[in-house]
Amino acid sequence: MNLLPRPRDGRHRTIVRLGHPVLRQRAEEVASSRFGTRFLRDLERDLLRTMFEDGGVGLAAPQIAVPLRVFAYYVPGEGGQDEVEPRVVVNPVLRLEGEAEVAGWEGCLSIPGLRGLVPRHPSLELSGFDVDGRELSLRAQGFHARVIQHETDHLDGIVFLDRMRNLTSLAFEEEWEQFASDRHLPVEA
Ligand code: NI
Repeated sequence: MNLLPRPRDGRHRTIVRLGHPVLRQRAEEVASSRFGTRFLRDLERDLLRTMFEDGGVGLAAPQIAVPLRVFAYYVPGEGGQDEVEPRVVVNPVLRLEGEAEVAGWEGCLSIPGLRGLVPRHPSLELSGFDVDGRELSLRAQGFHARVIQHETDHLDGIVFLDRMRNLTSLAFEEEWEQFASDRHLPVEA
């Protein structure tokens, strides 16, 4: 049983669902003049709190109807993955490695109740900033790389359904729990 961090501040924001136009727009870069502002720090806290309270491992700003290139994520230390502490990334740029051929289960807080197999790149380099404008650079692989690809897609108006090769693996949560094999990793992002 994974014990989620319990955010002490920030406020819970409503997550918009598929059909809301903000999920299908390209989100705007955050201007450097906004780094370190109350606005961006509040956005960071709200994203983290909402992500944890709604049981996700990632949440992009457009999912709370903020059309900016910001997302929160973390990787729980389960399913053979190394834990990655919760963090918020601003203006992410990805350098994808290999081919988008590693299939894994994904879900999305904006598409509640559904799961599907999505092919993703096995590893990547992420560069970007934290909310105070400090440069951030890291390598990620496996589930960590998957979450980053899923969240960055949200900033370009793309959802995991768009990335599925076909819809034959699409499943409702309860049926997925009952019938899917290889479902050891957390999927809700
Ligand atoms: Ni999502």
